[in-house]
Amino acid sequence: MRIGFFDSGVGGLTVLNKAIEMLPNEDFIYYADTKNIPYGTKPKEEVKKNIFEAVEFLVEKGIKALVVACNTATSVAINELREKYDFPVLGMEPAVKVAVENNGRKRILVVATPLTLKEDKYQSLVTKVDHNNLVDELGLPRLVEFAEGFIFDEKIISDYLYEALDGYDISSYSTVVLGCTHFPFYKNVFEKVFGNHTNIIDGNAGTVNHLRNVLREKELLSSDGTGNVEFYSSGSSTEGFTRYLEFLRDKNQ
Ligand code: DGL
Repeated sequence: MRIGFFDSGVGGLTVLNKAIEMLPNEDFIYYADTKNIPYGTKPKEEVKKNIFEAVEFLVEKGIKALVVACNTATSVAINELREKYDFPVLGMEPAVKVAVENNGRKRILVVATPLTLKEDKYQSLVTKVDHNNLVDELGLPRLVEFAEGFIFDEKIISDYLYEALDGYDISSYSTVVLGCTHFPFYKNVFEKVFGNHTNIIDGNAGTVNHLRNVLREKELLSSDGTGNVEFYSSGSSTEGFTRYLEFLRDKNQ
């Protein structure tokens, strides 16, 4: 059986790409809820309803595990998804703990969707780990729109980042946590804007590592998959999705 991946759009492809690389003997099914994107600027209850419909679609296709490859969906629905389904359900969480542990006393910036940053899940994570008040937040909803539009022009993206960062001391951050799965597409632009002294981190490899451990533990790892992916979406065509995977491979992500 295949591993299901789900996101509101193309962001989850940044996680799927890591999974194809790290789990070459698995096959995958990817569902993008593009009819309802963006999740990150909508009310929680509306997003939750969309998530359950999307996951049902994957369940009907038959999956052995689910990766909620979306930080926003994870923040609003992961507990209820785990209660509802018997198969392993993995989510994405901004890598704040890793950042705090590795960072000493330097400042950390978490970038994500407004809904992720507003949710209790994120707020309680920060309360638990940020004992020295080193973590700042910034919502970057337009990066989701840019990624969906396949807009990768560095000038357009960096202009948006500089505008959004107005009032933030860019040079004070030693780590930027990409807390939305659409953002790793722009890792190189973040690197340019923040400079060499800043680490830009995401939770993608960590999530896939965790997925591998869970599958192994439950004896669900496959040996006869070939990295095949079937794409579905609730909205526009999925024809361009392989272009995004190629883009990520070109950038070595
Ligand atoms: N990719 C989603 C995330 O990781 C958010 C995109 C959206 O706003 O729909 O948070």
